Amino acid sequence: MSLFNRKPEETMKVTYISHSGASQTVAVLVGESVMEGAVKNGIDGIVAECGGACLCATCHVYVDESWLSVLAPIAMDEEVMLGNTFAKREPNSRLSCQIIVSKELDRLIVRTPEAQN
Ligand code: FES
Repeated sequence: MSLFNRKPEETMKVTYISHSGASQTVAVLVGESVMEGAVKNGIDGIVAECGGACLCATCHVYVDESWLSVLAPIAMDEEVMLGNTFAKREPNSRLSCQIIVSKELDRLIVRTPEAQN
């Protein structure tokens, strides 16, 4: 396949809203996590100390309520780590390293907590 026939990698838009209300919308590759999208685009408020291994809870986000039903259910390891978030866990708390971007998640909105550690 020539370089010119190659399909561009598909991206979806994800909006990150900081604790102070600053909003940034970036393109995140399908198949990457919401955490990876934040780190690659220099989004403040997501530390991701463990690099996405579901071992640190420093990628904690609050998912906009309108998106909760679209997300995959919380797996057991994520559930355990959500018990270790620095900021208060809320019903819409998720670990952004465990949210994998797909077409269904285009225009996903997440909010970052005041602090991660
Ligand atoms: S990056 Fe460590 S739990 Fe998500």
